Amino acid sequence: MTEEVAVERDYTAAARALVDARYPIALTGAGLSVESGIPPFRGPGGLWTKHGEPPMNGWELFLADPKRAWEKRLNPEGPMRELARRVEQAQPNPGHQALVELEAMGLMRCVITQNIDDLHRRAGQRELAEIHGNSRLVRCIECGAREPREAISLAVLPPRCARCGGIQKADTVSFGEPIPEDVMERCQREARAADFILVAGTSATVYPAAALPFEVLERRGALIEVNPHESELTPLATVVLRGPAGAVLPKLVAAVRGLRN
Ligand code: APR
Repeated sequence: MTEEVAVERDYTAAARALVDARYPIALTGAGLSVESGIPPFRGPGGLWTKHGEPPMNGWELFLADPKRAWEKRLNPEGPMRELARRVEQAQPNPGHQALVELEAMGLMRCVITQNIDDLHRRAGQRELAEIHGNSRLVRCIECGAREPREAISLAVLPPRCARCGGIQKADTVSFGEPIPEDVMERCQREARAADFILVAGTSATVYPAAALPFEVLERRGALIEVNPHESELTPLATVVLRGPAGAVLPKLVAAVRGLRN
């Protein structure tokens, strides 16, 4: 059997599992935005691979001195500076658009993303849970209210919440910070309802996001992995579509259309 036939068979199997699913969701990671010019964190070309992992106590540092934390955020250095610049310039790619198409076809109930780059939202994804926050939003650490970053004044740091006067921080979840309850509750609810999960562009090494696919597997749901490299989930995948998400996901949509015609 040639490589092509094998791959073709895998796309058909993945499309079949998706079409037959009652409640399909997706979990995405940095790999989905690589073709938008944003490097991953781990593996080949990863930011942490190149520069080393950042300090794991970002939340503690924020609470200790919110003004200083904001000053650092507004003048990022090293890998955070590179990440901020790339996120600023990035545009959604065909991988993001394919997930929007699946949603329009009624085959994607929610996209849970670990990415803070706003690209799923800008691609038009409606049912979206950003488990690590969104870099274009700020969040009050008291009442949890979120606002667009461009809507607030940064003349006085730290900025204060218009609703409760609490301190605002970037909505992105710092290392050591608990995931905001509203988002965590949504992610768990979606994972517990799902009988199919498309896992695209993640090493599946960071918790609690990496635990979500197991909610689906425990109930014998299907797991489709989209990744050019092996990940922690590869041995557990129902079907593996090996390749870059920007190329693989549009082909999966085409395979679904092929099944439906
Ligand atoms: N398409 C699909 N997957 C890709 C692509 C691509 N074009 N390029 C790389 N990948 C895969 C890599 O093989 C790797 O498995 O994407 C994965 C990226 O893994 P990580 O860099 O670990 O990113 P992620 O899993 O999203 O990290 C989780 O860690 O540092 C924190 O908060 C950060 O949200 C992030 C979290």
